[in-house]
Amino acid sequence: MKYPKEYLDEIKTRLKVSTVVSKTVNLKKRGKEFVGLSPFKTEKTPSFTVNDEKGFYHCFSTTEHGNIFDFIMKTQNFKFGEAVKYLANLAGMQPYTFSKKDEEREKQWNEYSEIFKMYVEFYHNELLKNQDLNFAREYLKNRKLSKDDVLNFKIGFVPFHSNFYEKIKSKFNEKNILDTGLFYFDGKKKIYVERFRDRIIFPINSITGQPIALGGRTIKENNYLAKYINSPETPFFKKGSNLYNLDYARKLSNKIEYVYLVEGYMDVVGLRSKGIENVVANLGTSLTDRQVTVLNQFFDDIIICFDGDESGYKAALRAAENSIKELKPEKQISFLFLSDDEDPDSFVNKNGKEYFLKFVKDNKIPIHSFIFDHYLKNTERNPSSMATLEKKLKSIAATIKDEFIKKYILEFFLEKISSFTPNINENKRKFIPKKIKSLKSTQKYFNETRSISQIEIKEFSFLYLILNNIEIFQDNISLLEKIRLFTNENIIVYEAVLSKLKQKERFALSDLDIDNQLLDKIFKFASIKHILKNIKNDQEKLFELLQELSKDLKHYELELRIEELESKFSKDLSESTFNEIKELKKRQNIN
Ligand code: UTP
Ligand code: MN
Repeated sequence: MKYPKEYLDEIKTRLKVSTVVSKTVNLKKRGKEFVGLSPFKTEKTPSFTVNDEKGFYHCFSTTEHGNIFDFIMKTQNFKFGEAVKYLANLAGMQPYTFSKKDEEREKQWNEYSEIFKMYVEFYHNELLKNQDLNFAREYLKNRKLSKDDVLNFKIGFVPFHSNFYEKIKSKFNEKNILDTGLFYFDGKKKIYVERFRDRIIFPINSITGQPIALGGRTIKENNYLAKYINSPETPFFKKGSNLYNLDYARKLSNKIEYVYLVEGYMDVVGLRSKGIENVVANLGTSLTDRQVTVLNQFFDDIIICFDGDESGYKAALRAAENSIKELKPEKQISFLFLSDDEDPDSFVNKNGKEYFLKFVKDNKIPIHSFIFDHYLKNTERNPSSMATLEKKLKSIAATIKDEFIKKYILEFFLEKISSFTPNINENKRKFIPKKIKSLKSTQKYFNETRSISQIEIKEFSFLYLILNNIEIFQDNISLLEKIRLFTNENIIVYEAVLSKLKQKERFALSDLDIDNQLLDKIFKFASIKHILKNIKNDQEKLFELLQELSKDLKHYELELRIEELESKFSKDLSESTFNEIKELKKRQNIN
């Protein structure tokens, strides 16, 4: 019996792969993944990895690969149903009770997939063996498809006078046959007709590898037949959710972080045949957010490469506007444009794999740049047109679901736009008060404190602490090793003090090679003066105080670095920058 997808998804959401696996395998965290010794083989060096984000485990020594259900089935020798029960229990869920409706749908699915399997197999063999189909084989050969390609994709051909309906009508229920969309009823002749007759057929598989729909290409040159037709929507095939070749490409996601998204069946076949196997197609409909979400489950980086003609460009723009909504931190979407009259298939056939890969590296454009460039190109330099541009870009940014990404894309757009209004920006700048930096000794105390930042006061306190306990720190210099200061004047003092401390000879403040004014300031503004008075000679308390100050300074260092990185990220939106920010924020929270 087939469990509803929602129920299985609920289990998967509640249980991380690492949680399930770590019940039997000792896992250690390594970067984004976990590693451990393979449960499928005795080994000394760990070759078994778990990726929670992708929801998979992978064993490099046995190439075993799968999700939590596969893991339980394989390691405990459970049937699927038993694994579901076991994991549902582990996830704190009620066991699933099947209803009459589930039972019917299950039966329907069994027939549906059975019919598809038979159909695909049958016409695949026809293409391989039928003597009358030389012309079809010839056509594929001319298009540089090898026999291996035909085998890998189970490509078939439906001869004009073939009638598969007759072959299966006694075995299956009529409604179920019709539900496959493989046949339609000719009302005039009162017969069922093959929808894909006289076409090369490309089976479209579900994510688990069963054929559930077809694409069919005519090989006749004429204008009245559509070049391609696709299966209609069926109870088990929803357009906009499936992707051609995803069942194959997803298995590569352990090794490759990115996937190419192309327009056509032949682009997928062409690329895979040339050794670029991480490729899927979205099949004649515009890219949907669901498809982006599915791809992101497996790949961090989607490279959209549509045809180099006008319709390819338009499709790319639509894809960009649809998919930017789904953009998530750590995920990237970029675009590649080929020259006019090229598509990925013809491009890679002409230039080969290496050239293609290099071309991608040098020419792919991040999604936000593509969108900006496109709208700018269509904007005239007049107020009304420029205002429309700003409104449009803001409205696109507003569709982004992830708040973090939204902020930075908007910032990217606004920064670019602000270069068109230099005067307004200049005026704005004038209103930002400059930091007061005067250090004249004549200045009043009030003014002085105003010019001193929080961080300087911390630094004064830190230096004050050392300067008042020179001997203690001379004996414990290692405590100061990792502490860094930020303001120039204090750094000078700190360095002078450190070098004296290291010399191991006793010294007095007057021996320090520092301007007295600097020392004065430290003694005047160090906020711990009073605390220190009370704990004099208590070394333990002293060290506690030092630790606290050092923590504050560390915190400030992190803050500075994060600010710096955030401004970098708003420009390059690179994944590594983002990861670094995330890592630092995590550290900030721990400290
Ligand atoms: P293309 O016209 O670019 O075809 O359509 P292609 O992939 O380059 O195919 P070849 O090289 O001419 O054989 C791209 C995709 O758009 C959909 C199909 O999914 C096709 O693969 N399409 C195209 C249709 O659904 N119907 C059509 O009539 C044409
Ligand atoms: Mn083509």
